[in-house]
Amino acid sequence: MLLAEPREKRPRWRNEVPAELEVNADREQLFRVLGNLGRNACQAGTATLGATAEDNAESVTLDIIDDGPGLTPRARESLFQPFAGSTRTGGSGLGLVIARDIMRAHGGDIALLRSGEGGTTFRLTLPRRRRGG
Ligand SMILES: Nc1ncnc2c1ncn2[C@@H]1O[C@H](COP(=O)(O)OP(=O)(O)O)[C@@H](O)[C@H]1O
Ligand SMILES: [Mg+2]
Repeated sequence: MLLAEPREKRPRWRNEVPAELEVNADREQLFRVLGNLGRNACQAGTATLGATAEDNAESVTLDIIDDGPGLTPRARESLFQPFAGSTRTGGSGLGLVIARDIMRAHGGDIALLRSGEGGTTFRLTLPRRRRGG
């Protein structure tokens, strides 16, 4: 099994998530979600990958921002649909489905925020940790 494609370039990371931000999540699973998003962005030809966070009363949002070419119309049509979503040869189209499953298991979600010639942004949402609730 090929784990990385030789064509894939390593992007630069622009991590703007405050180091002190805390979320209630399974570290490995969240890592997996970020890995799936990062890999997709690399495969699309992203040069710089950004991450920003917003801490709200009810939820935390994490935006994963790339400067790739944006989603093709076909990818956009079947995004988050198992096996149908892939536009890559050898792609399963499961990466975003799995990411959504993991986010929903946390009580959160993932959504496409925007995509165009300037790049693509996915938004992850996690419910805020409730104290004593
Ligand atoms: N950041 C991105 N930029 C451009 N296209 C993307 C991006 N993320 C996903 N895609 C498109 O969405 C499709 C589905 O992604 P995914 O569910 O991870 O399946 P796979 O990676 O196996 O194709 C990809 O094949 C690709 O066409
Ligand atoms: Mg993928």
